[in-house]
Amino acid sequence: MSISTFLQVVTTALLVAFPGFAQTDGSTSRPSFLGPGPMWRGPVRPTASNEVFATGNGCSMCHSAAHGATAMRNATGDDVSPHGLWQATMMANSHRDPYWRATVDKEVRARPDVAAETEASCLRCHAPMAHHTARLGGQPALSMKDALKDPLAVDGVSCTVCHKIEATGLGEPSTWNGHPPIGRDRAIYGPFKDPAAGPMKMHSGYEPQQGMQIRTSAHCATCHTLTTHHAPDAPGFREQTPYLEWRNSDFSTEVPNKSLAANCQDCHMADMGNVRIARNPAGRDFLIEPRPFRAHAFTGGNAFMLDLFAKHREELGVSASVEALERMARATRSQLSERTATVAVTKLKHMDGHLSFDVTVRNLTGHKLPTGYPARRMWLEVQVRAGNELVFHGGAPDEDGSLKGVTDELDLPHVDVVRSAKQIPVYEQVAADAAGRPTTTLGLMATKRKDTRILPAGWKSDGPHAADTAPVGIGDDANFVGGSDTVSYELLVNPAKTGRIRVLAYLRYQPIPPAWVADLKNVDTEDARRFVRMYEEADRGPETITIGQAFED
Ligand code: HEC
Ligand code: HEC
Ligand code: HEC
Ligand code: HEC
Ligand code: HEC
Repeated sequence: MSISTFLQVVTTALLVAFPGFAQTDGSTSRPSFLGPGPMWRGPVRPTASNEVFATGNGCSMCHSAAHGATAMRNATGDDVSPHGLWQATMMANSHRDPYWRATVDKEVRARPDVAAETEASCLRCHAPMAHHTARLGGQPALSMKDALKDPLAVDGVSCTVCHKIEATGLGEPSTWNGHPPIGRDRAIYGPFKDPAAGPMKMHSGYEPQQGMQIRTSAHCATCHTLTTHHAPDAPGFREQTPYLEWRNSDFSTEVPNKSLAANCQDCHMADMGNVRIARNPAGRDFLIEPRPFRAHAFTGGNAFMLDLFAKHREELGVSASVEALERMARATRSQLSERTATVAVTKLKHMDGHLSFDVTVRNLTGHKLPTGYPARRMWLEVQVRAGNELVFHGGAPDEDGSLKGVTDELDLPHVDVVRSAKQIPVYEQVAADAAGRPTTTLGLMATKRKDTRILPAGWKSDGPHAADTAPVGIGDDANFVGGSDTVSYELLVNPAKTGRIRVLAYLRYQPIPPAWVADLKNVDTEDARRFVRMYEEADRGPETITIGQAFED
């Protein structure tokens, strides 16, 4: 047997044994893939694993709840284990996400000249284990086709991504855009100084150890800061910047004495008190002490997609149970209604049909509201009643989730004073392509036409990253300030309506507005058709964050 035939046989054997490596092209002289890593021992084996990564089901051998153990349950006995909660999160499903898949197809078709680069970039954060396996193994970047059959890709933002991120360079731009520093070793970083490392080392070959970077915002920033380029030499477009917004706010922990100091983890991973953080592979408690424990729920705003996962669980290949997904959707909705924003209606005046009042929206989050993916939007729906009769209604949604009476949803100006139902205060980001036209295609975004998302408390025009996070298109709205915006309503109502005046202001939120799905209808791929079908079958009504009201005396 010649050397090259021998290598081919070995490679083929490894590919069969470790499907996670299915991206070797055999043509490179660099190390062609990561090694298999130590043997796992015990009743549970990861679906795929290598020298650096393993699918999260491997960790479930000890970091999931079991009937015979008290570990990782809250006071009422619910499963709050890392694996049990994480499975039902958006991050665990970042590669199964049907909206993401459809959007990748759309982006590839919009810029066919850079199709391979586009696919590789989308996989960097949405299929990080497969991406970093290729990178660390000196392999060419992944394609969507490779990733679909790779269980490491399908496992999304998994345990061994976050828990292998090293401290070096965190907080610096070189680690953003999906470039977390990940070592080619078996370290697993956690918040505790003295973990009982023996069992984990024996069964998985991973070494738990303290790495306090796990508790920093800069850790999350590695994927939650995203700059895109519509052309190779174009200045970057800031697509997602929650970390930069947070840095320019009273929530920052990177400078001393900020009044509201809190990291991403403090708000996105609920404090569960003291709990044992593992149980043994036989399903009983280890002889370990309870430790301060946080929920791996990473609750955000996308309850709409969690509902879709529950409804189409099998078709999408989601591993979490319907019950776990529904619980996560409920947690998301209660975060939206309890910890996201307040709305106050003040200065209500009414005389001879002249009605005026102010609506103030206050942002309680540690970044813009909304933040993250640029599709997210929020708006004010305001109803005024005289007695039982509706005399004004602005911002009403249609059945399909669009705004009633609006012809171009990407062309809604900011409003500071509302005088008619046609003026709708919408808090959103709208990007323009190089020719200045509004676009929902990520790869064409060149500038911001509008960014009226409510600033976090403490945001300053001379603070860090001010140029990258400044509002756009607010004109001379002087009350659009760090933490809040106030909209004044000056309305004429029929003076013949004599009943007592009552104002109701609903703050509506929508993660995937119809205008962002419109283009997907023209993408003729299986993934795009599938998502459009699921979207159109879904309840597309917006979420209600909160309601403010005022009555005439
Ligand atoms: C730097 C990391 C990163 C890269 C690169 C990246 N994304 Fe994302 N993407 C994210 C994060 C983080 C979110 C979630 C933000 C949120 O929920 O607000 C997200 C959310 C999304 C969503 C919304 C999903 C939903 O269910 O609402 C879509 C669609 C999406 N990305 C498409 C893409 C496409 C297409 C590409 C490649 C062109 C891409 N992403 C590249 C980090 C990334
Ligand atoms: C998105 C990043 C991320 C992912 C994915 C993730 N973790 Fe964590 N994990 C964290 C952070 C951050 C902490 C520290 C929380 C704190 O104490 O502030 C943590 C803490 C832990 C702890 C210590 C106890 C606790 O919960 O506070 C264990 C054990 C753990 N994770 C296991 C896992 C396992 C197993 C998985 C996969 C099923 C996983 N993690 C997935 C970020 C992540
Ligand atoms: C055989 C059981 C077992 C397996 C499998 C296992 N762990 Fe652990 N893990 C433990 C035990 C036991 C501890 C220490 C508990 C203690 O000291 O309180 C621990 C601790 C941890 C910690 C905390 C480390 C620190 O210093 O803060 C993290 C994070 C963690 N494991 C993640 C993982 C991940 C990720 C996987 C999968 C790759 C995994 N574990 C697989 C049993 C296991
Ligand atoms: C390896 C990349 C990566 C890292 C590291 C990461 N995230 Fe994410 N995160 C993502 C991606 C990708 C998504 C979008 C998934 C989707 O919508 O399909 C996401 C989504 C989210 C969401 C939105 C959920 C929703 O319902 O809207 C929250 C909240 C979140 N991440 C919090 C965190 C926190 C907190 C940390 C740090 C402890 C963190 N993430 C670290 C990649 C990452
Ligand atoms: C003071 C609490 C707080 C802090 C600190 C905080 N968040 Fe959030 N975050 C929230 C709340 C509440 C929501 C839900 C409202 C929403 O969707 O915007 C949210 C939503 C999100 C979303 C989903 C946005 C969407 O609509 O798709 C992402 C992504 C996110 N946060 C990331 C981060 C990251 C990264 C950090 C750290 C740099 C961070 N958050 C810090 C409270 C916080």
